[in-house]
Amino acid sequence: MIDFKKMIAEAIAKTLEIDVKEIEMSIENPKGADNGDYAFPCFRLAKTLRKAPPMIAEEIKTKIKIDENQITKIEVVGGYINFFVNKEALAKQVLQEIAQNEEYGKSEMGKEKNIVIDYSAPNIAKPFHIGHLRSTVIGAALYKIYKYLGYNVTGVNHLGDYGTQFGKLIEGYKKWGSEYNIDENPIDELTKIYIRINQACKEDESILEECRNNFKKLEDGDSYCVELWNKFKDASLKEFQKVYDLLGSKFDSWNGEAFYADKMPEIVELLEMSGRLVESEGARIIDLENQGMAPCIIEKSNSSSTYATRDLAAIMYRARTYNFDKALYVTSYEQVLHFKQIFETAKLLGLDEKYTNGLEHVPFGMVLQKEGKMSTREGNVIKLEELLNEAMSRAKNIIEEKNPELENKEEVAKKVGIGAVIFNDLANSRVKDEIFDWDTILNFQGETGPYVQYTYVRTKSVIEKAGGIPDINKVNSNYLLDDASNRILKLIYNFEDILIQVTDKNEPSILSRYLIDVAKAYSNFYNENKIIVDDKGIQNARVYLTYAVGKVLKLGASLLGIEMPDKM
Ligand code: ARG
Repeated sequence: MIDFKKMIAEAIAKTLEIDVKEIEMSIENPKGADNGDYAFPCFRLAKTLRKAPPMIAEEIKTKIKIDENQITKIEVVGGYINFFVNKEALAKQVLQEIAQNEEYGKSEMGKEKNIVIDYSAPNIAKPFHIGHLRSTVIGAALYKIYKYLGYNVTGVNHLGDYGTQFGKLIEGYKKWGSEYNIDENPIDELTKIYIRINQACKEDESILEECRNNFKKLEDGDSYCVELWNKFKDASLKEFQKVYDLLGSKFDSWNGEAFYADKMPEIVELLEMSGRLVESEGARIIDLENQGMAPCIIEKSNSSSTYATRDLAAIMYRARTYNFDKALYVTSYEQVLHFKQIFETAKLLGLDEKYTNGLEHVPFGMVLQKEGKMSTREGNVIKLEELLNEAMSRAKNIIEEKNPELENKEEVAKKVGIGAVIFNDLANSRVKDEIFDWDTILNFQGETGPYVQYTYVRTKSVIEKAGGIPDINKVNSNYLLDDASNRILKLIYNFEDILIQVTDKNEPSILSRYLIDVAKAYSNFYNENKIIVDDKGIQNARVYLTYAVGKVLKLGASLLGIEMPDKM
């Protein structure tokens, strides 16, 4: 397809002595149709050119040479130059591209670039909670979108399978293991033990000491501790898998924290060599006061390792194994400090700057219930598997009510219920806290997953009523020059650009918002235009546009991890 933005940028660049890339980056898509399809703001140039922005705009307008078949009108409004794309050319191109390209918007731009995405990462023997769901959903969406743009992506599930909590669990199990039915219901029972031992630790310092020693023993390979650890891990993974199956999650690597046990001594050595590893209250730390941060603890006073040291070993391992250009970490913003500390400390490991510059924390907000936050230690958690089951059963009830005759209700309810939960996690900018509320999430009319699915289903039924997708050679795109059609065509044209924006900001909500925009634009088109009409020329064009909308909705949703039902 013609890249209008680039074409405009190049034409502007020829009139000024400025880098094309820079111009291209500042070109905007104006909101209302009155201001054209692309706008170039001249404000930033005012300083260097020593002229008022409207004057610069006028000057560019007079000097610019641009293909008039593509850009039909150029207008100066204040400090902006607005460009109007030829509607016919746009319509024709978009439909051609949709017809020819099964994987519309796919690109090779990320070729030869390696991206590691660290996401999901629940903790063994603890419930897979709603924060891990968010990490799983955001991470998976980024994974799919980077891949679609041609990047070489590795998804890592950095399981929390190591650390003092295992010392605690082992202690609790030793004390009361026989009272709990761990084989039957591992995570619930282990959580009970965990809560109980935490309480005991609070009351008795010596028990806490025992727990710490257990973890030390585990690190030293004590066979009893290792055996228990394996038992906890296997049981937990089996439970996590149920959630992953429902969400359709896959990972390329399951190397959790324990994987780095034998890779930490090297890290400690490198840090020693840097001369920055110092003793403090019996522990060994990297002092980060100059960076305005609390110290990064490398070794605890009983010489056991820390979460941070394991992450440093993971950075080293990922640099060597995946040669990453970017390594993303998707966790809640509660870990902002942790990642700042380890990214700073990683600079002392002697790694190439390529790697230390490529490290990026992708934080997201809390999921709040109306009652507030939930935590494992207190024991008031929603279990994720139950939550997903509830989503499906609520979706089923709604379908039962709206469309009792529907076939495969179970399957549709699964797509709608799970899709609703996923969409909700991605619907707003990720750093915002999210309120989890069933009625909002499952509202078919709201800005929700079910609304996007519903719109898709509607496109399907329009096509069915029309007797199928028309042959592209019989489609005259000049029937699609009205505002409602043009709005859709512009959105579809922007699809790839939207995906690029997602990867620039690691912000999948840009795609979710886009899908809502497309769905709304289609509803508007549907209300404005009769689709099935006597004039077959008009009908073919409108049905084809309908098909294009369905295609983009389905593609976009699948990149977010959401499946589309054909009927609902
Ligand atoms: N297991 C951690 C948690 O539940 C998340 C791990 C994130 N990844 C990492 N490399 N630190 O909070």
